[in-house]
Amino acid sequence: MTGDGPHYRLGPGVAAVATGAGGALVRVLGPDRVGVSRPGDLPLRLLTHFAGPRTRESWVDGDSGGDDVGGAAARAFAEALEHRVLVADGGGQAGELDQAAVDQVAAALIGHLVRLRAHLAASDPGTAPPGDPALVLHLSLHLVRELADQVAVAHRARSAAVAADLAEGGPVRLHLGCGEHPMAGWVNIDLVSPAADLRVDVRDGLPFADDSAEAVYIAHLLEHLEYPADAGAVLAECVRVLAPGAVLRVAVPDIAAFARAYVEGRAEFFAEFERRWERAPSASPLAAFLHYAGAGEFPWVADRHRFGYDEATLAALLAGSGLVGVRRCVPGDSRVGDPRLDYSWANEATGAGLPYTLIMEGEVPR
Ligand SMILES: C[S@@+](CC[C@H](N)C(=O)[O-])C[C@H]1O[C@@H](n2cnc3c(N)ncnc32)[C@H](O)[C@@H]1O
Repeated sequence: MTGDGPHYRLGPGVAAVATGAGGALVRVLGPDRVGVSRPGDLPLRLLTHFAGPRTRESWVDGDSGGDDVGGAAARAFAEALEHRVLVADGGGQAGELDQAAVDQVAAALIGHLVRLRAHLAASDPGTAPPGDPALVLHLSLHLVRELADQVAVAHRARSAAVAADLAEGGPVRLHLGCGEHPMAGWVNIDLVSPAADLRVDVRDGLPFADDSAEAVYIAHLLEHLEYPADAGAVLAECVRVLAPGAVLRVAVPDIAAFARAYVEGRAEFFAEFERRWERAPSASPLAAFLHYAGAGEFPWVADRHRFGYDEATLAALLAGSGLVGVRRCVPGDSRVGDPRLDYSWANEATGAGLPYTLIMEGEVPR
């Protein structure tokens, strides 16, 4: 929060602004006093300014006026309060997060943006909608970014505190992407799983000190990250926290086997996999292959695969992140020395004579 004194934040009235876009913005804040269709306009700036809790003074005193002089900022503020576009900030905690609803809205938002971009690209001058779509987009960007920043800051502070507790007893073993399979003696990390000891997005870094981990297991997670940028950055972060000589183990779908099964028409490979995974059958072996290889779903689906690895590609990524002694492992074979690591049925199972999983290890140079 900024400044002393009472703070105000966006309230329920802003929904009318959001749903009605430009037109409603004029209605909510008064058509005779404020314009809405040019960059830097007053209501838009008011909304973006109060995306995080702010004092009245930070708005009224900070308003340079622009075309709107003589208390326009103060009037816009008063009207926003009257119509509950702004409300006093109680500083209370948000209610319990409905993750499914958040996912649904986020996916819909991205979908609408893609649609909007296509329509705007295709629209002729003169057929554009009333108001200024770029302004509404600008407002949306600002609000979403502000929210993401606020959540990230709060979350980072909490993750650091949780991680400090978990690391208190000495070197840690990190299990990344644990899902519903936490392992005792490991720090189980996942973006969303309630079974995790620490819920973080591994793309934001690992809240552990350099050289503080004696092993990392990345368990069917790497294929969910963008290749090579995010996957490479996460591996580099693992290397940072691993002590010299410590081992990193990765399990991902063996995409060379999936490709071979497709090319050789081994339909049983896909059928068996989908049976074991209790997943609705894909429309065809090609649809299944593309799904596992990261090309099957809309880009914004949160838990989709984003890439598929074969041995050469994963070995290069591991070596590129600074690991040495990189090699393929069979299930049960590990320098980590914990027989529980291959807990996933997919690590051991084969279909039509081909492995489903590629398991590799490398170690940090001493
Ligand atoms: C396919 S599941 C694997 C679960 C478990 N390791 C297993 O093999 O049964 C992938 C897991 O990675 C987690 N995950 C995906 N992206 C992540 C990210 N960016 N940061 C942290 N966890 C992530 C998901 O929440 C999910 O639990």
